Amino acid sequence: MESLKDKNVLIIGATGGIGSATARLIKQSGAVLFLAARDRAKLELLAAELSVPSENLFTVDVRKFEDVKNAASSIHSKISSIDILINATGKGIIKPMELLTEEDFMESLQVNLVGAFYLMKAFLEPMKAKKTGLIINLPGVLGKTPMAGAAAYSASKYGLNGMMKSIREELKRTDIRITNIFLGGTDTPFWDTIDLRVQKDKFVTAEEAAKSIWFLCQQPSSGVVSEMVLQPFNHQAI
Ligand SMILES: NC(=O)c1ccc[n+]([C@@H]2O[C@H](COP(=O)([O-])OP(=O)(O)OC[C@H]3O[C@@H](n4cnc5c(N)ncnc54)[C@H](OP(=O)(O)O)[C@@H]3O)[C@@H](O)[C@H]2O)c1
Repeated sequence: MESLKDKNVLIIGATGGIGSATARLIKQSGAVLFLAARDRAKLELLAAELSVPSENLFTVDVRKFEDVKNAASSIHSKISSIDILINATGKGIIKPMELLTEEDFMESLQVNLVGAFYLMKAFLEPMKAKKTGLIINLPGVLGKTPMAGAAAYSASKYGLNGMMKSIREELKRTDIRITNIFLGGTDTPFWDTIDLRVQKDKFVTAEEAAKSIWFLCQQPSSGVVSEMVLQPFNHQAI
């Protein structure tokens, strides 16, 4: 396993269920954390818990390229490049077609797909200059397999999966690794706004999902874990 000690790790969506649990584990391993999300108060609470200095916190709405670029230029004024970028942002809009609005569809694409594109535009070139880095995205099983009601969400997550696979093709002469983790139902606030009857007690816990990401951050340098699937034992969609 590669050591995380002193690695520069950026988590976007750090205030979420999976993002915050991942931040805790990565901090314990001695990495330098950079944390981003929209909600400043939540970010500051997490930063206080993990002793992350305020200059490493970024209020970022991934739908806004300016926000992403500002965070990137502030980070790159201190370090040449992020070693590990974890994109744990995401929005779940699950509705049947008759209820799904154009706004729902565009919002899903903006957060889950266009946001990831902006992150790549802002952070990839410095990684390429350094020829090394690891980028972890969370397309989820709905980025690989269909579900009724997931037209907008799956469009964004299949898109994310496809975009990252294409970028991987461009990076074959570098040591930049692209990892997609496909989680099934995970018990986080993600589900709070989704009108669907789910059995949260059967879900993967946020801590277990975070342990998988923490493991992926330490993947062997002689290879790459290009994909990982972790889903509830009783509800295996793939
Ligand atoms: N939970 C599941 O069952 C599950 C399964 C498969 C995949 N996933 C994926 O895993 C990732 C993390 O999900 P989670 O379960 O941890 O969800 P969560 O608890 O709802 O967290 C989502 C995170 O994304 C941030 N976020 C939302 N919109 C944003 C925006 N426009 N700009 C910047 N940050 C934004 C939120 O912070 P702010 O609101 O402060 O911005 C929060 O930190 C998502 O990509 C999700 O699709 C989740």
